[in-house]
Amino acid sequence: MIELTVNGQTRTVDVPPETPLLWVLREELGLNGTKFGCGIAQCGACTVHLNGEPVRSCVTPVGEVDKKPILTIEGVATGGTLHPLQQAWIDEGVPQCGYCQSGQIMSALGLLKRVPKPTDEDIDAVLSANICRCGTYCRIRKAVHRAADNMTPEAPPPKKPAEGPAVKVGK
Ligand code: FES
Ligand code: FES
Repeated sequence: MIELTVNGQTRTVDVPPETPLLWVLREELGLNGTKFGCGIAQCGACTVHLNGEPVRSCVTPVGEVDKKPILTIEGVATGGTLHPLQQAWIDEGVPQCGYCQSGQIMSALGLLKRVPKPTDEDIDAVLSANICRCGTYCRIRKAVHRAADNMTPEAPPPKKPAEGPAVKVGK
């Protein structure tokens, strides 16, 4: 048995450890928003976040996930409210056939975590690795900028308190 944390829930699956995470998400857990494209880490359709980082789930053995949190497209909205990135995707009418789009959104989410206000070049550098056969890249770029404008940047980690002079106690 392998225990996974998917979209904040603990799930247990009985599969060989070498099974690709993508298969487990789709076939065992019914989370089929994540898509199979190439199966060899080339297209990005299967992108999910593992421990906060985008990964290609088609080449990620489930046995190596090791209880790290997994986020799929199904877990991006919170409490029935779309993530600003999802809303921007709708507002800009990004999808055409839609097949690649969950992977695009997961990659864009990873980008915005690292670079809250990305340039066109930043967006192209990341999103061009997600193949869209419908050629929606111009709208993707606009949607990422729109989302960046509507998102509150994550708070930076708290600073360590400055160390004061050593205090002598007693005599
Ligand atoms: S299906 Fe994983 S990168 Fe193409
Ligand atoms: S919207 Fe059709 S492949 Fe991207």
